[in-house]
Amino acid sequence: MDMSTTHFLDVDAFTPTELLDVLDRAAELKATDPDGQLTNRTLAMLFEKESTRTRISFETGMTQLGGHAIFLSPDDTQLGRGEPLSDTARTLSRYVDAIMVRVFDHADAVEMAEHANVPVINGLTDDAHPCQTVADLLTIREAFESFDVQAAWVGDGNNVARSFVVGCAMVGIDLTIATPAGYGVGEDVLDRAAEFDGTVEVTTDPSAAVDGADVVYTDVWVSMGQEDEREAKLQAFDGYQLNESLLDGQAVLHCLPAHRGEEITDSVLESDRALVWDQAENRLHAQNALLTTLIE
Ligand code: CP
Ligand code: NVA
Repeated sequence: MDMSTTHFLDVDAFTPTELLDVLDRAAELKATDPDGQLTNRTLAMLFEKESTRTRISFETGMTQLGGHAIFLSPDDTQLGRGEPLSDTARTLSRYVDAIMVRVFDHADAVEMAEHANVPVINGLTDDAHPCQTVADLLTIREAFESFDVQAAWVGDGNNVARSFVVGCAMVGIDLTIATPAGYGVGEDVLDRAAEFDGTVEVTTDPSAAVDGADVVYTDVWVSMGQEDEREAKLQAFDGYQLNESLLDGQAVLHCLPAHRGEEITDSVLESDRALVWDQAENRLHAQNALLTTLIE
């Protein structure tokens, strides 16, 4: 496939077949170790929000692949002094081979992509986290050896959930989402997911969602940029915690960072059924696959 100008702003930038190819490539890179596939290539990384996994896995990945990554906070570029995104995108495209962006407003990532003629990769916006979804799907397939699983999402219908819902549908995973009223993933995401094979059920009942599930996924209740909503969200999500009384042996996913005692208990996160460290590692392999697919 010609991926020369493909941007990865959300997981359905790919077809299901292309997504499965990326997952196969990720598994292969994990098994064999990368070996200079992106020698002399450069990734620019623009971060408006904090990061541990995304920054370090992308930067390490580019090193493993023989290339180089440049970390840029808003204060490191003229963006911090008001240079437009469109001018920044066109300038960066003259130097680097791909641009990763972690920004608040998804429209800013779209604007970068509209003006860049190298791939723009979404490293988290308020609306989507597709790199996380590729790692999540890789982790599920490793644990269950297929996508013939029943999954549940319990908690906020946030950026991570929105991409996960679409990604599950694309690979045929049946998913039930339990969120409090008013905190769902949004009709736009349900419409996009409906184009694919996996089914999506929506409920406000966490017990109903996890009943019969093989794997249960959650994320923080207060995402970056939502600090002012903290009290209201803690109230709204009462009863949505992944704890020993809700769960019954299901595998557990969390994109991390976790807020122990809020969306998940310490004992669940530290239990053998938590796949979270494999999931975090898989960010590296998933992104190495994405980088080599998009930059080639
Ligand atoms: N899961 C994830 O994206 O983590 P970071 O915020 O640490 O990058
Ligand atoms: N939903 C979280 C994910 C962090 C990786 C946030 O946006 O802060």
